[in-house]
Amino acid sequence: MIGIFDSGSGGLSVLREILKILPEEKYFYYADNAFCPYGEKTPEFIQSRGREITDFLLGKGADIIVVACNTATAAAIATLRKEYPVKFIGMEPAVKPAALSSESGVIGVLATAGTLKGSKYLTTKGLYEDNVKIVEHVGKGFVELVESGELDGPQTEKVVRESLQPLLDEGADRIVLGCTHYPFLREVIQRIAGPSVQVIDPAPAVARHLKDVMTEEALIKEDGGPEIPDIQLVASGDDSSARSLLERIIR
Ligand code: DGL
Repeated sequence: MIGIFDSGSGGLSVLREILKILPEEKYFYYADNAFCPYGEKTPEFIQSRGREITDFLLGKGADIIVVACNTATAAAIATLRKEYPVKFIGMEPAVKPAALSSESGVIGVLATAGTLKGSKYLTTKGLYEDNVKIVEHVGKGFVELVESGELDGPQTEKVVRESLQPLLDEGADRIVLGCTHYPFLREVIQRIAGPSVQVIDPAPAVARHLKDVMTEEALIKEDGGPEIPDIQLVASGDDSSARSLLERIIR
């Protein structure tokens, strides 16, 4: 069984990609929305949430855990890997594909404050910033929009534009979605950015990495699973918004 967690519904954008290549596995998704957003919380707090959720998912029988949250990957995955014998798959900021494909020489990264401060992001950024200009912005209010199911409309567009426009004004032709909530706003982001800008979501690459690790660890189901995806979802707060997004991704 694959355990997945996020501060809320964002990780469902990762589950959506995983289901495309591993449709027959069993899933347990934990939305920690009672403590959402994680973006401005301390690493210690996120580590303690990570431990509690890991204990819960292991108790449910998880064989591997996907930290479907960039902020939790930055703050807690190293600690969790030290403390638990299970494999953890984390999020990677997709700076590399953006930097290698940019034609304008400017890439924009949208993420939470915690992710942008994390050593993983700073190290990745350091590898490419001699070749491209990297501009960043926190997606202010994006997580809240997704948690409340406001994925489109004039107000959503206004909130998205405020954080995206500064990156476009700098000339960015690639926008990296560095938070798993943001792919649910992708249509709005693309509409504002226009067709010449490519929006990059790391989730498909994370899904492929999960599949590779599961193959190495002999965790892939041999006998084929159910036709309808087998997904259980639990939330630390009200689960209605996560459930309706889940319905959307499996429809
Ligand atoms: N979905 C998360 C991420 O990928 C966390 C957003 C938040 O809770 O601030 O960073």
